[in-house]
Amino acid sequence: MKEIVPPPPSLVRNDLAAIRARYRANVVPSYGRFDLAFSRGSGSYLWDVTGKRYVDLGAGIAVCALGHAHPAISQALVEQAQRLVHVSNLYYTEPQGRLAEGLVRLIGPGKCFFCNSGAEANEGLFKLARRFGHDQGRFEVLTALNSFHGRTLATIAATGQEKVKKGFGPMVPGFRHVPYNDLAAMRAALSPATAAVLIEGIQGEGGVTPANPDYLLGLRALCDEHHLLLLLDGVQCGYFRSGRFQSFQRILEGVPGAEGFLPDGIAMAKSLAGGLPMGAFWVRAPYADLLGPGAHASTFGGTPLACAVALEVLAVVERDHLAENARTLGAWLLTELRRLAGRYPGVIKQVRGVGLMLGLELTENPPGLGQNGKPPGLHLVDRLHAAGVLTIPAGTHVVRLLPALNLTQEAAQEGLSLIEQVLHSLP
Ligand SMILES: Cc1ncc(COP(=O)(O)O)c(C=O)c1O
Repeated sequence: MKEIVPPPPSLVRNDLAAIRARYRANVVPSYGRFDLAFSRGSGSYLWDVTGKRYVDLGAGIAVCALGHAHPAISQALVEQAQRLVHVSNLYYTEPQGRLAEGLVRLIGPGKCFFCNSGAEANEGLFKLARRFGHDQGRFEVLTALNSFHGRTLATIAATGQEKVKKGFGPMVPGFRHVPYNDLAAMRAALSPATAAVLIEGIQGEGGVTPANPDYLLGLRALCDEHHLLLLLDGVQCGYFRSGRFQSFQRILEGVPGAEGFLPDGIAMAKSLAGGLPMGAFWVRAPYADLLGPGAHASTFGGTPLACAVALEVLAVVERDHLAENARTLGAWLLTELRRLAGRYPGVIKQVRGVGLMLGLELTENPPGLGQNGKPPGLHLVDRLHAAGVLTIPAGTHVVRLLPALNLTQEAAQEGLSLIEQVLHSLP
C-alpha cells in the first residue's frame, strides 16, 4: 500500500522568529542586533525577509562600497573562483601584487601587507611600531580618546573607549590615550618609551569627528621631531568615502604646508573588497622593509579571490568617478541634513562629516526618543527602520550615514525624505 507522506518542512524557514530562534540557540550573543533579517539587496536598497524594502544608508557599516549585488563584483568573484581561490602566501599570485601596486599609487611610495579585517590591519601596524622602536626599548603607541581600532586584545587596548575594555583586563601594555585634535596633549603625553602615534583621520565609532588640518600637520612635525611613526587608521574613513582615497588627503586639500604630507602607516579594511573580508596596511617607503621574512603573516591575507574582487571594486570606483560622487552627494546631504537640524533644533544638535561619512548628533534629551533607558541615537535608528531607512548608531547620541559610494541622488533623496518624515513625527 502506498503511504502518503507529508512533505518535510523546508530547511530554512524564511521568517524572522525562526531566524532569531536559531541565533538565540546557536550564535554567541556578543552583538546587540536589531530585529531585522535581510534576504537580498540591490544597489542602495535592501529587502528584509518579510519583503519590506529599505533605503540602505549604512552599507554594512561602510563596507559595501558599490552597494549590494553589484554585477562587477559578482562577475569578478565567479571568474576568479573558477580560476584560483587560495594558494597561501608561500607563493606569488598576480592579483595581490597588482592590488598592492594600485594602493601604493593612491597613497604614495611604500608597500602593502594584506590581512582580513580592520583589527588585523591595526595589529600589523602595532607590530611595525614595536619593531621600529625595539632597539631603543620603545614600544608605546599613543592613541586618541573616543577612538575605535577593533576588538582584538591589542586593538581594545588601543581603543580610547572604556566600554570595549570592560571585563577583559589586564590590557595589553603599551597604549595610552589623549584627547583628539589636541596637539599639546599629544606632545605632553610623549614618553621615552613612545614609538608611534595612531589616530583615525575621521573618528567613526566615536561619533564622526574629523581631524583638523593643523592637527594632522602638527602630528607629522611632532613625529618627525621625536622620531616616531605617524599611523592612521583609515578603516572606516578611508576608501574614497571622504571624496579622496584617504581622509587625510581630503582634509589637507589646499592647506598650505600640506604638500607631500604622508603618514608612515595606514590601516585599511571595510570597503577594500566591496564586502568580501579584506584588510591591509600600507607602510611608507623608509619603513616598508621593517617587517622582513618571517616577521608577520596571515593564512588568508591577500588571496587571489579577495584581491581580484578588490581590483574590480577599484576599477569601478575609478571608472564611475565614485570619489566625486561621494564628494558631491555628501555635500548635498550635509546641506540638507543641516536644513533639517535647523527645522528640528530640539532633536538634532549638530550635523558633521566629510563626503559620505556623516553624523547627526542628537540633543541631550530629544523629545520622544530615549525612553526606558534606550539611548536616543539607538531609538532614532529604530524609528528610521520602521520608516524604511537604515542608518548606523555611534555611541548614545550620534546616528551615522555611511552609504555606498555609488549612492544615487534618487536613493539619497528618498532616504532624506524618510528621515524628515520621522523627525516630523516626533512629539
Ligand atoms: C576605525 C576603525 N578601525 C578598526 C575597526 C575594526 O575593523 P574590523 O571590525 O574589520 O576588525 C573599525 C570597525 O568598525 C573601525 O571603524
